[in-house]
Amino acid sequence: MTVRRIRVIPDPALRQKAKRVTRINDSTQRLIDDLVETMRAAPGVGLAAPQVGVSLRVIVVEVPEEPLYTLVNPEVVKKSGERRVEEGCLSVPGYKATITRSVSVTVKAQDRTGKPCRIKATGLLAQALEHEIDHLNGILYIDYLSSMDELVPVGASETEGEGALTSGI
Ligand code: NI
Repeated sequence: MTVRRIRVIPDPALRQKAKRVTRINDSTQRLIDDLVETMRAAPGVGLAAPQVGVSLRVIVVEVPEEPLYTLVNPEVVKKSGERRVEEGCLSVPGYKATITRSVSVTVKAQDRTGKPCRIKATGLLAQALEHEIDHLNGILYIDYLSSMDELVPVGASETEGEGALTSGI
């Protein structure tokens, strides 16, 4: 496994719509392993393939008290409720902001073996899933702000991205 370089804004890789994975092969497995290692090294609670410059629909999410999710072709098929949350992103280092996310989401995906799976999530897991799936569509959380003045600088010790800014994770 290798820690890959995380792209930061304004890297154009972050703005591409990622392609569906049609065949899960050795390089997909390597990508998933590297995403997990890169996420943990950051450290963060989620990472999407476009953040390491790979335009494929693959994400990894690992929030406290939940298993590691490695998802291929994930999509939000249902969401409900709204809540205001603090959020950051490894690709937007040094900042956080408060945005609106769903209270709960249902995500349909394939696991790393290609088997279809469905995840019902709330809380930080739902937030992280929405955040990472946004990355696959070239969307960053800062796109939800009406002004960049809403960005709050954070100290280097708390720049964990992908939703980890909440509650001192
Ligand atoms: Ni992010």
